[in-house]
Amino acid sequence: MTLLDTYNRAPITIVAGEGCELIDASGRRYLDCIGGLAVSVLGHAHPAIAEAVAVQARTLTHASNLYHHEPAGELARELVTRSGMSGVFFCNSGTEANEAAIKLARKWAYRRGDTERATILACTGSFHGRTLGALAATANPSYREGFAPLPAGFEFTPFNDTLTLRSAMHERVAALIVEPVQGESGVHVATVEFLRESRRLCDERGALLIFDEIQCGMGRTGSLFAFERFGLRPDLVTIAKGLANGLPIGVLLADERASSGFQPGDHGSTFGGSPIPCAAALAHLRARDALDLDARVRARSRQLFVALEELASKNPEVLGSPRGIGLLVGVPVREPYEAAAIVAEARARALLIGSAGGNTLRFAPPLIISKAEVSRAVSLLESAVQRSRVSV
Ligand SMILES: Cc1ncc(COP(=O)(O)O)c(C=O)c1O
Repeated sequence: MTLLDTYNRAPITIVAGEGCELIDASGRRYLDCIGGLAVSVLGHAHPAIAEAVAVQARTLTHASNLYHHEPAGELARELVTRSGMSGVFFCNSGTEANEAAIKLARKWAYRRGDTERATILACTGSFHGRTLGALAATANPSYREGFAPLPAGFEFTPFNDTLTLRSAMHERVAALIVEPVQGESGVHVATVEFLRESRRLCDERGALLIFDEIQCGMGRTGSLFAFERFGLRPDLVTIAKGLANGLPIGVLLADERASSGFQPGDHGSTFGGSPIPCAAALAHLRARDALDLDARVRARSRQLFVALEELASKNPEVLGSPRGIGLLVGVPVREPYEAAAIVAEARARALLIGSAGGNTLRFAPPLIISKAEVSRAVSLLESAVQRSRVSV
């Protein structure tokens, strides 16, 4: 054994990518509708990203956070302008961004003398990452099993249940953490009522509201930040995945009030805000403006929903209605059919899709996907579904 056995890898070796396609070692081209798990928003080998990375690699690859450097400063300003937030903390992954959010929420309360206020309230169905703090905020037992004891001070409230939320938000809650769209649990979208009530209760009870936009942010819902689609603002937002189009980066964004929670020495990361991922993220943000990406995402989303609905109505014993928002879409698979088997059949037809919790197919393609590619994806899926029907 060389790589530890943590992933069920598919039996193909990817050697290159181009736009919405991935190419394996035999030269076979796959239509990529999972985008490296919602990461490759501009597709693969995007020239602007490649150029920014190459230029930055020749200029400065690392300086540490002992000093200022231009890519991190520029990216922080860009993210603040685009989000309306105030403070930025850079790290290297989604789970680290959530760790930073959890620590900031606790320190913010502590600094105000509210030392008993340390509970992090999360939702059923949540996924916030694999490190111990983020895992403690992750509801699904399959991710938690065997890792006890997890850090204390984490509680759960049912997703999209506003009534229960009222009683769950007690005076020791430092923060409520919510995914506006739960990806891992099978693509479930938060209701506007639930998010509004979350905002209202956090304000009323003195807690911070954290949105984990690691999967649903960076344009995936049809606006750069998911919170814009829901018309309300959290105090803290975490992003990662798509920001640098494949280079490792995580970010905690904090509004002005919450930013005061961290002071020098409170948190840190050797590689956080490294020049190359920051340069890639800046190139991504500039490219997305030129592409009018939000409008494209909304149009392709409508097309995908219509096509998947039609496919589901032709195969009602296999598929349920699609759900999601923008280009984060789940299709429930009915038993005895299995999402994993359909994903494998799709891959055999050169279509890459993912699966998610609750026996669900997951689409998170590059946001640049074309109209023709969406049609091709759904017709390949149709053939995979036909094959699954024969073999069950
Ligand atoms: C909503 C959400 N939060 C956190 C994470 C963890 O991100 P990472 O794998 O970069 O640590 C993920 C990853 O899938 C996610 O979807």
